[in-house]
Amino acid sequence: MNILVAGGAGYIGSHTCVALLQSGHSVVVADNFSNSSHETIVAVQHLTGRKLTFYEADVTDAAAVESIFLQHRFDGVIHFAGFKAVGESVEKPLAYYRNNVLSTVVLTEACRRHGVSRFVFSSSATVYGDNRSPLLETLPLLPTTNPYGETKVISERILTDVAKTDSSFAVALLRYFNPVGAHESGLLGEKPKGTPNNLMPYIVQVARGQRDCLPVFGGDYPTVDGTGVRDYIHVMDLAEGHIAALSSLKAGVHVVNLGTGKGTSVLQLVKAFEAVNGVRVPYEVVGRRPGDLAECYAGVGKAERDLGWTAKRSLAEMCRDSWRAERSL
Ligand code: UFG
Repeated sequence: MNILVAGGAGYIGSHTCVALLQSGHSVVVADNFSNSSHETIVAVQHLTGRKLTFYEADVTDAAAVESIFLQHRFDGVIHFAGFKAVGESVEKPLAYYRNNVLSTVVLTEACRRHGVSRFVFSSSATVYGDNRSPLLETLPLLPTTNPYGETKVISERILTDVAKTDSSFAVALLRYFNPVGAHESGLLGEKPKGTPNNLMPYIVQVARGQRDCLPVFGGDYPTVDGTGVRDYIHVMDLAEGHIAALSSLKAGVHVVNLGTGKGTSVLQLVKAFEAVNGVRVPYEVVGRRPGDLAECYAGVGKAERDLGWTAKRSLAEMCRDSWRAERSL
């Protein structure tokens, strides 16, 4: 298939480009580098030994998107082009609604105009709000605590409503849990600008001495050791989930969790990282971070049944590959 990857230079997008190219698909990337760089595109081509077509374009720009669609015949679109920092979304709600919602509208309009029927959307477990884990796709969506989460809910609704008007439109709403790790070559990874918002990039920076100590947000949750529990998934497993979703995609809307189904606490992740990589990660338990849940992990039966996909890589591999990428990038 010939696939347009919007946001293909970003963390999850670039790993998915690798998986697409390695499975024989052709890839056209559109990215404006707002949180990524051209080096990533070079690395994707280097490590797959395949070329992709690249446009520096903002996918909220309808004219730019139209011009890309006029130059290619796509079999499908994967939409990763969103802002993703929860805290920043509270400070800059309009930037988040504009970028994350408008990009979905513009890409969907182009698909409709050009008869592209497959659309895969990067959603998030955040749409489950504070439902109890394991989170199943059948649960009602609950209010999220931030504009970022709302943009995911709204985008899911837009795509669902469009599918009601066209019985040939085939949409996968992929709800990601907590992606970590990097391609095992160490040539791709996640390089957040400024202070990391997420746990793994923070652990990595403490391990290399760039920061003194990891703040552990809350030690009094009703969990195995009092710290927050999440479903960490290796980014290459996540990338392969997109290939499975594309290949099995049929008309209609298909909501699927991409997670491992296993919960890991903050301290369990810290200990695993130290053991696997032979490094120390000093930490200090501090107050809870507002808006955080105690526990969040996926129900994974639907992904297995409908996509024939399960996450394969272990927590140790996630820790090893995050550290390897940090040292080689
Ligand atoms: N944590 C710390 N210290 C840190 C950073 C995080 O203790 O410096 C803890 C958090 O409190 C949480 C866990 O590590 O218990 C994971 O936190 P992350 O910020 O890495 O991930 P979240 O689960 O909070 O956020 C993720 C995605 C969001 C998504 C959210 C909702 O990054 O995009 O899940 O499910 F919105």
